[in-house]
Amino acid sequence: MQLKSVQYDKPHFSHAGQCGIGEAWARIPPELDRAQRLRTTERIRALLHERDAVLVAHYYVDGELQDLARETGGCVGDSLEMARFGAQHQASTLVVAGVRFMGETAKILSPEKRVLMPDDDASCSLDLGCPADEFSAFCDAHPDRTVVVYANTSAAVKARADWVVTSSVGQDIVAHLHACGEKILWAPDRHLGAHIQRQTGADMLLWHGSCLVHDEFKADELAAMALEYPQAAILVHPESPAAVAAQADVVGSTTQLINAAGRLPTDTFIVATDQGILHDMRMRYPGKTFLPAPTAGQGATCKSCAMCPWMAMNSLQGVELALEQGLCAIEVDPAIAQAARRPIERMLAFAAGHRQPVRASGDLARDAALFQHFGPA
Ligand code: 13P
Ligand code: SF4
Repeated sequence: MQLKSVQYDKPHFSHAGQCGIGEAWARIPPELDRAQRLRTTERIRALLHERDAVLVAHYYVDGELQDLARETGGCVGDSLEMARFGAQHQASTLVVAGVRFMGETAKILSPEKRVLMPDDDASCSLDLGCPADEFSAFCDAHPDRTVVVYANTSAAVKARADWVVTSSVGQDIVAHLHACGEKILWAPDRHLGAHIQRQTGADMLLWHGSCLVHDEFKADELAAMALEYPQAAILVHPESPAAVAAQADVVGSTTQLINAAGRLPTDTFIVATDQGILHDMRMRYPGKTFLPAPTAGQGATCKSCAMCPWMAMNSLQGVELALEQGLCAIEVDPAIAQAARRPIERMLAFAAGHRQPVRASGDLARDAALFQHFGPA
């Protein structure tokens, strides 16, 4: 199988705020022709049934995989919904089409289930840029801070956290902690951390990681595109740089952006997140137009072109092989899994109390009242 090399920002723990270049790789799955795709899809349907399995997919994976997950009673969701769905579903096998941290989270929440992935080498630049030993040293250096980590991290990093959050609940959880008077140590995404800091006013010390897809969106080019499409609404994932988020009509998790596309009366949207999401948006709202936000400056080339190289490792063939041969089964060291489970469950409990969307206001007194029924970590 073909490999491609991937460069990403690698924070230097000992030089706060600085990044070097990390080298990683991603596998490129072979292209299937139409007949092969049809045959593989039919085989997966049968295997899901035979193996008591369910497909749990992220919005960034191949559109056919998303369709298959939906049509076979599985789920397509953001990382919070994937975790919730996998933990609640009665199937004995979960096939997680996403990146490795999503498979690990599923296994941590359901140790009794078999968790398979189409390719368990599918990583994430945030996870790669936050090694557990360096992160642990960072926590040791700031014992007075509550440790909040983004879900896009290894199980070992989560095991060191007080809270795990995803982009859909991160702001509300930090607002709650801020209202409780806690100071935050945040990792790994610096843009999401800074966005939450601006929204909540919390005291946050940030790890310096970034997502190689979202870090590439360009503010000047986005502003130029907005002039070209003055009627368009701008939807931005909060892993994007501040100058990009500042132009957004809505900043939110993948699910929140999809919901906004349905809710807003606008016909045209400029979307600053991985292009995989456009499949879902176009399917749900066929009368609307969705345009990818620009990722490269004039004359420059883009690194990811808004397509996560690791999400692209998820293929129909990979799902078939995982189910057929039990390949890419996720295992997490039991002691690490036990420690990581606590902060993930804390997030799920918090999110369950917020089924009706509640937005933190950034006003300390109001937020304290809003979150009074949740205790500190
Ligand atoms: P969501 O939780 O919004 O799906 O984000 C996950 C992710 O990896 C975004 O790049
Ligand atoms: Fe990680 Fe970015 Fe890929 Fe999401 S899009 S999995 S944050 S590298």
